[in-house]
Amino acid sequence: MKALILAGGLGTRLRPLTFSMPKPVVPLLGKPLVRHLIDPLPDEVDTVILAVSYMKEYIERYFQENDVGRNIIIVNEDVPLGTGGAMKNVAHNLDDTFFAFNGDVICSLDMESMLHHHRSHGGIGTMALWPVEDPSAFGVVATDDSGRIVDFQEKPERGEAISNNINAGAYIFEPELLDHIPDGVVSLEREVFPHILHRGLHGYNFEGYWVDAGTRESFLRAQRTLLDLKGNMISCATRHAGVEFIGPNMIEATHLSPCRIGPHVYLERGAEVHQGAQIEDSMVLTGASIGRGAIVKGSLVGPGARVAEGETVLDRILA
Ligand code: GTP
Repeated sequence: MKALILAGGLGTRLRPLTFSMPKPVVPLLGKPLVRHLIDPLPDEVDTVILAVSYMKEYIERYFQENDVGRNIIIVNEDVPLGTGGAMKNVAHNLDDTFFAFNGDVICSLDMESMLHHHRSHGGIGTMALWPVEDPSAFGVVATDDSGRIVDFQEKPERGEAISNNINAGAYIFEPELLDHIPDGVVSLEREVFPHILHRGLHGYNFEGYWVDAGTRESFLRAQRTLLDLKGNMISCATRHAGVEFIGPNMIEATHLSPCRIGPHVYLERGAEVHQGAQIEDSMVLTGASIGRGAIVKGSLVGPGARVAEGETVLDRILA
């Protein structure tokens, strides 16, 4: 069985970090975002197709250097074709039931159970659904009593949503779906889903957590969620005399001056933190340096970025 991961978007909402690396390989707790989708795939998925475009060399290099235990096929789009166009572009690889994901979804979806649900309900596809309080920033889905999807609404005005269930960006489709995608730049959400409801598209609700990690706020929410679940992960090589750790953190950096870290901080190997700095709810990547007495909160600090001595960085992306 195959899984398709849409990984070709520009990631504009994570700029400037995504000027130096594409979103699919931004490390969430030490693991590129797309690996959070690949690792929990059911065993019967032997091949993962990555539909890429923006900074594709970076993604190719990651998979050349890292064995993820599945065959990886990387398919390029010279210009981004949109979520539907990207799927159509890999159609020649999809001749059986397949999984498909937006590459920035972080969730507790039990993919095996979803596959079982799909096989027992039939139809052209199954879409994972997630309930939210305010669906106005999402694709909203209405289902009937049997769980069949009967209506779609893309980013409705506040108060006008047809339900609280949103499209979670994780799907199982039959290859017939590909016949319903026109050529060119196509959005699955706007131009395909509304036209295939008569072929039987089913919703699949699940419990646990779901985050679309495509913005600074949501990326850090995903990081907090996983840290709260996994607890502290501090590399045994870390020398941290005089460092005050608060709450769950993931620390790969090895040399830390006395400083205050946490809760919810990821320090990648090669990140530097100088004396008296305070870091909370943030990610600091390799080669970045947090100066003496600096304060960093709610921020993504990209590779090589410098926070000067005494500087305060709140809710920002630095790269
Ligand atoms: P923003 O620019 O911040 O909106 O991010 P994005 O470009 O990643 O767009 P969005 O988050 O809406 O995309 C959802 C998923 O679809 C992401 O995993 C993208 O990589 C992927 N995606 C979006 N557009 C394309 C495309 O044209 N081609 C391919 N292959 N993937 C796409």
